[in-house]
Amino acid sequence: MPDRIVAPSLLAADHGDFAAGVRLVEESGAPWLHLDIMDGHFVPNISFGPQVVADLRPRTRLHFDVHLMLSRPDRYVDAFVKAGADRITVHVEAQHDVGATLKVIRAAGLPAGLALNPDCDPSRALPYLDRADLVLCMTVFPGFGGQSFMPSVLESVRTLAEERKRTGLAFRIEVDGGVNLKTGALCREAGADTFVTGTAFYKAADRRAFVRRLTD
Ligand code: DX5
Ligand code: ZN
Repeated sequence: MPDRIVAPSLLAADHGDFAAGVRLVEESGAPWLHLDIMDGHFVPNISFGPQVVADLRPRTRLHFDVHLMLSRPDRYVDAFVKAGADRITVHVEAQHDVGATLKVIRAAGLPAGLALNPDCDPSRALPYLDRADLVLCMTVFPGFGGQSFMPSVLESVRTLAEERKRTGLAFRIEVDGGVNLKTGALCREAGADTFVTGTAFYKAADRRAFVRRLTD
């Protein structure tokens, strides 16, 4: 199983001062920064775009984990590659040739991720596992931070972890939505290794301890 990684989500930071939000992640010792990109169509909210990612790029060496919640992610992969993404995740439910988009991401030299909404049967990921470096199991319906974790998704995490073991593939299993110390531990038991956390991270009194406790 890959090392455990915490990816704090900038969505829960102060959108008037993203640079400060990034500094809090750096100070916490978390190696990744999760960037939630929303188009107001695939999800009922709009967040921020490639220019924000590009402007943050020179400020930090954090690994930019870009999560595209877009109806047509294939149209924007290039913009986020140019903006400085270190990996890009797209949804299986979006309107695109999923296998082709994953291939384009990899051809750009980046690891590719495949995201599933909470009500998505994990079997929908199976045809793409050989082209994915990460599978993102949404543990809330995407769109907003601060929602409650959906324990029903743990079953999908288990299924994917079993599939990973069975096939010997090395994709990461990431969870995203309502992840805190308690729900993060459940995800870990189910086989997740990568933990997106927005609200709980930014609200934590001791973020360094929070990150450490999620991973060790
Ligand atoms: C949900 C986003 C998540 C979210 C996580 O639409 O994809 O990344 O920001 O935030 P919390 O931890 O607040 O649920
Ligand atoms: Zn996300």
